[in-house]
Amino acid sequence: MDHQSKALTLPIARFAVGSIIFFLVAWMAGAEPDCPPPLPKDTLPAELALNAIPSGLAPVRVVPDDNRLLPERVELGRRLFFDPLLSADGSVACASCHDPQRGFASAAPRAVGIHGKVGTRNAPSLLNRAYGRTFFWDGRTATLESQAIEPIVNPVELGSQISDVLAKLAGNAKYRQAFAKAYDGGVTAENLGRALAAFERVLLSGDSQVDRFQAGHASALTDSQRRGLWIYESRGSCWRCHRGQNYSDEEFHNTGVAALQLQPDPGRFTVTHDEADRGKFKTPSLRGVSRTGPYMHDGSLATLRDVVEFYNRGGGKNPRLDPLIRPLDLTPQEFDSLVDFLKALDGSELTR
Ligand code: HEC
Ligand code: HEC
Repeated sequence: MDHQSKALTLPIARFAVGSIIFFLVAWMAGAEPDCPPPLPKDTLPAELALNAIPSGLAPVRVVPDDNRLLPERVELGRRLFFDPLLSADGSVACASCHDPQRGFASAAPRAVGIHGKVGTRNAPSLLNRAYGRTFFWDGRTATLESQAIEPIVNPVELGSQISDVLAKLAGNAKYRQAFAKAYDGGVTAENLGRALAAFERVLLSGDSQVDRFQAGHASALTDSQRRGLWIYESRGSCWRCHRGQNYSDEEFHNTGVAALQLQPDPGRFTVTHDEADRGKFKTPSLRGVSRTGPYMHDGSLATLRDVVEFYNRGGGKNPRLDPLIRPLDLTPQEFDSLVDFLKALDGSELTR
């Protein structure tokens, strides 16, 4: 190589290496995305049934006296649920994380909120929350009304200030009218929580194959699903926690999911400060479960097969593991049957 072309190659090589580094850094920065999660459209039926309770569910929902289910309240809550106006920069709505097409849960293992910020927990399904006794994975709130305010002000979810949200709503003639029609006092924080809660109370899932089977229609379940039900109720001990009409005891248990994390989520401990509650999480309902993955409070298990595998090997070992969680030694056929049974809990979700 002569002197001249050497002098030329060096800057070119430097330029090439520089560009590679530049793109590498840009790409790595891109891995921490700045973009909000996708915002699903409202594709629910035009008319939502307020008083029709699908079979298998208790006929009475917990509805506070000051928030009786009225069409104008549910309608208002529905609009708010899909409206990114509730977020600081107008990019994220409740529906961004609670996607109607996914049983009102999220496809992201850990919730992705405003500016693409990633939280620490999975967004749970909102189906049948009307029957819930406490809310959040650690049960830190007691009503849907008070729960609804928290994501609005959570800096990694909607990232707003309540005063700003109320000002935006009050500045919108349609919202002002809708609030005045639905509640005394018009646009207030309390009424905002009430309207979102009213909408959530009509998100019901029932009338599944399992409900029909239990109502006496033996052919509603396949042989495999019946075998799965048997394991669920016998060796699997699943029913001991996922029990009752909503397949949840609404209690907190240590199945060892957190024990497998690098920095274990303390779960219920954060609320009670009782060491015995460290690593306990609320038993999720299993209704509509085939659509609500990924699973567990941290979204660490992608599929129902992964969940059954987790239980089959005895959960996540730790000193406080619930004694009901122990290796199940399922045969491959039993394994498939249990998965098939869980799928038969899909029901009359609004979006099918
Ligand atoms: C950025 C994603 C995100 C957004 C936006 C969001 N949520 Fe959530 N939601 C979550 C996560 C994550 C949890 C669980 C958090 C925890 O347990 O600490 C949750 C929990 C809930 C629960 C409790 C369910 C249960 O079974 O205990 C309800 C109800 C709920 N959200 C309603 C709403 C409403 C109403 C809005 C809009 C005002 C909203 N969420 C906005 C991610 C989100
Ligand atoms: C000791 C009580 C207990 C028993 C027994 C139990 N579970 Fe669970 N289950 C839980 C709790 C608590 C969670 C949430 C754990 C977490 O996220 O840390 C859970 C989560 C799940 C989930 C994920 C749901 C979601 O929305 O993320 C599925 C599916 C499930 N269990 C199915 C089963 C099956 C099938 C069995 C029987 C083999 C079973 N469970 C036995 C308490 C129990």
